[in-house]
Amino acid sequence: MAHWLITGGAGFIGSHLAAALVAAGDRVTVLDDLSSGRRANLAGLERLRLVEGALSDRAALNDLAQGVDGVFHLAARVSVPDCITHWRQGHEDNLIGSLNVFDAACLAQSGDLVPVVYMSSAAVYGDCGEGLCHEDMAPRPHSPYGADKLACEHQARAFAVAHGLPSFGLRLFNVYGPRQNAQSPYSGVIARFAANLRAGRAHEIHGDGQQARDFLFVADAVEGMRRAMATLKAAPRDAQGQARAEICNLCTGRATTLLELTEALDRAHGPAARPVLRHGPARGGDIRFSCGDPTRMTALLGPMRPAPLDAGLGALLRED
Ligand code: UD1
Repeated sequence: MAHWLITGGAGFIGSHLAAALVAAGDRVTVLDDLSSGRRANLAGLERLRLVEGALSDRAALNDLAQGVDGVFHLAARVSVPDCITHWRQGHEDNLIGSLNVFDAACLAQSGDLVPVVYMSSAAVYGDCGEGLCHEDMAPRPHSPYGADKLACEHQARAFAVAHGLPSFGLRLFNVYGPRQNAQSPYSGVIARFAANLRAGRAHEIHGDGQQARDFLFVADAVEGMRRAMATLKAAPRDAQGQARAEICNLCTGRATTLLELTEALDRAHGPAARPVLRHGPARGGDIRFSCGDPTRMTALLGPMRPAPLDAGLGALLRED
């Protein structure tokens, strides 16, 4: 039975990952400071231990990484506006916290390598213009959040070279699904619109609604993370014997405009009254088109067959 450490495992995506690993028969330790994660997200999961703590507690992290088969690093300050308001704290959480995780994984290596699968973000790209974002493009983050995620990728590479730490960074696009927080002003658009549907509220559309995103269902994000870990476990070193430090998008490669999203939500919601769309001004700094190129992801992780949006939204509205 494998044993995994998940940082941020009580959060939206982390709790889905924890549930999938437990369902596969594995043992999971979760480190989470419960700042945005919730104990209830892990309720009823067997073979799971939740340790309440922060990434800044290096002693705890080092201790928890001992003896595990790999680390999934998801803990982060995930809101871009929040990282702008709390710039230094965001940097501490997102970059220094990640260094602590990489360090702990290195210390835990005793002959066996302890690979780390960590979350990067589409935010590293900044604005890719009209085309798909692919990994060979020069990243130009617009935010401290994106800059710190990009720095994590560089650090992961340096850890591979200097300390032989195998790692896999996943540039997540817009992940959605059950348990995503809809209450915060920083919540993702699907969580907010799903909550609007339930409450019979109008959708607020920022601008003309023609902006497009690559929406990835949370189960597919989890599948990508598990495949990334399996890839590192099967081959932690490259052909030259160097520890691998892979990076790829985690995306569908399909762009959906906000107006198309509202139609898909209507279809998933059924014949109840359609919510009113209220158009307001475009959000400052909003990116018009954001969609990932899945080519490298497919080459590294195999064909993914992500859930069609209608199916993912149906599951969200049924389960949430
Ligand atoms: C995501 C991040 C954002 C970051 C950006 C760049 C989240 C929740 N947001 O934004 O902080 O700057 O990546 O990497 O992770 N919208 C509406 N009405 C709403 C909510 C949103 O029209 O009630 C629009 C937004 O203006 C945007 C689109 O929906 O055009 C998607 O918004 P959002 O879910 O926040 O994702 P990103 O813009 O991709």
